[in-house]
Amino acid sequence: MGDSVQQIKDKLSIVDVVGRYVKLERAGVNFRARCPFHSERTPSFFISPDRGTYHCFGCSVGGDIFTFIEEIEGTDFKGALKMLAQQAGVELVPEKKEVRDERSRAYAIIEEATLFYQKGLTEKHPAYTYLTERGLSPATISSFRLGWAPKEWRALAGYLRARGYREEEMEQVGVVKSTERGVYDRFRERIIFPIADIAGRTVGFSGRIFSEDAKDAPKYINSPETPLFHKSYILYGYDRAKQAIRTNRCAVLVEGQMDLLMVHEVGWTNAVAVSGTALTEHHVLLLKRMSDNLVLALDADSAGFSAALKSARIALLGGMEVRVAALPSGSDPAEFIQKDGKEAWGKIMRESKRIISFLLDAHAAGSKSESHFHDLVRKDVLPFVAGIQSYTKRESAVHEVSGKTGWSEQAVYRELERLPQEDISMIAEAGETAPTEKKITGGYDARIRQLWGVILWQRAKENPDINVEELLGGLRSAIGSGAAELEQIPESEKESLLFAAETLYADAEHLNDDIQALARIVSLDSLKRRLADASARLRRAEASGDEKMRHVALEECQKLTGEIAHFDKMR
Ligand code: CTP
Ligand code: MN
Repeated sequence: MGDSVQQIKDKLSIVDVVGRYVKLERAGVNFRARCPFHSERTPSFFISPDRGTYHCFGCSVGGDIFTFIEEIEGTDFKGALKMLAQQAGVELVPEKKEVRDERSRAYAIIEEATLFYQKGLTEKHPAYTYLTERGLSPATISSFRLGWAPKEWRALAGYLRARGYREEEMEQVGVVKSTERGVYDRFRERIIFPIADIAGRTVGFSGRIFSEDAKDAPKYINSPETPLFHKSYILYGYDRAKQAIRTNRCAVLVEGQMDLLMVHEVGWTNAVAVSGTALTEHHVLLLKRMSDNLVLALDADSAGFSAALKSARIALLGGMEVRVAALPSGSDPAEFIQKDGKEAWGKIMRESKRIISFLLDAHAAGSKSESHFHDLVRKDVLPFVAGIQSYTKRESAVHEVSGKTGWSEQAVYRELERLPQEDISMIAEAGETAPTEKKITGGYDARIRQLWGVILWQRAKENPDINVEELLGGLRSAIGSGAAELEQIPESEKESLLFAAETLYADAEHLNDDIQALARIVSLDSLKRRLADASARLRRAEASGDEKMRHVALEECQKLTGEIAHFDKMR
């Protein structure tokens, strides 16, 4: 196998491999791109053709063609090897039939379950008729591998046992539940929608009720979290939609399985669904690999409206451009398409409004008076404007708010500044589902890391033109971290920071200026953050009548404002 790895590396350039997924631009001897693994506006993902490696400042991923494919295709080393071998035209020596490891047994068991359910959904089955009556074609039913879970307690368990799987294994992938008296099938008497990962392998199921005598059972039940199935990472339909999202430069987000299938049915193959959860930042990262544009087509009821707002916030903060499709009230995409058809759906899609316009219009229509409208705009629209990541797009949103409220643009900007800081961080937290996971790192962190990298690099080179000590001293007073914090970075990470800085700045003509500029931006960012924090404290103190705290916070605000003004002058 070592041989094939080398052969593949000899034949495939990292530029070709990565270039299939992201748009590369030349940066001296290297290439750069916007990182496909995290959300960013400016490219900090670098590729070195000479070394055959990539590295991202922003999220510090790095590696070679194999790790890249593993990451982006969501596959393991073997999977990446297969894909790259094919691309390189290298033949792999077939693997011996050894004991399959736990993970591949888990995939295999889920695959068996999928086949079992699929076999259950014959064309004569009432559930099949029901699905076609709702508008699904036999082609869609079979290509999305829809199935039927029979009304029996142990049908699937028995089937899997007969194929050599143990009950613990069945339980681990979530298809059975266990009691003291053994296991029983999780999905019974339900239409089964297999949910695939980005590589198209089934990893979980969603089961829709289809029986008369189960009035109080939940309409849908889903696989639990398992080693293969993580709800907040998986978008239903993504594996089949990803290419279409790229080519259409846009993704459509719907709420449920039926919606997704109907939307695909009428040719909108760039649609994905969140099934029973809000959109998460991980979902946003997946979508952003393919396109920055998102159209929300969520149910036009009040639950759908608040889901739309939540999802829109997450997507905006992830740097996506968000539009909202206006479905007739009370309907959802599946219903709409069945009733009004493909053309009408296309029209709805084309007429989708930018989120800010959508909110402004919805509030204008739903408010009792002008002052009520203005309050709603302050409370509900401005936080969205603040969440827009692109300066130019934020500017055009401000313009629109100004036009529709009659406020001057300056007044809108002032309102934005006054926005409680907590609101903004709350928006950021709304996307946090797993606290252990890395947040989308803001530009601030990425730039600090970039700066550390440059400092480490220049210190290692002992460049007499760059006064590292002075730089670190300045940073200590501006951002509160300096030489000591730099020392605390683990060695392995130091190396990757250094590598990245070298890649980025190797051919800089005015290195010293670049570094000073970077240090200024980092300092200014930090001062602004501290100011926002101090003014939040000031407002709290005012509200609670805490005179001493108010005084301290006010002084801090004044001091920071002065420092910021000083920086602005230097620019
Ligand atoms: N959902 C869920 N659990 C529930 C209800 C809903 O996970 N108890 C998820 C499912 O993914 C479902 C989506 O939310 O597809 C939308 O739910 P809803 O709008 O209530 O479903 P309908 O559109 O009425 O469902 P259908 O089209 O299947 O009749
Ligand atoms: Mn619905």
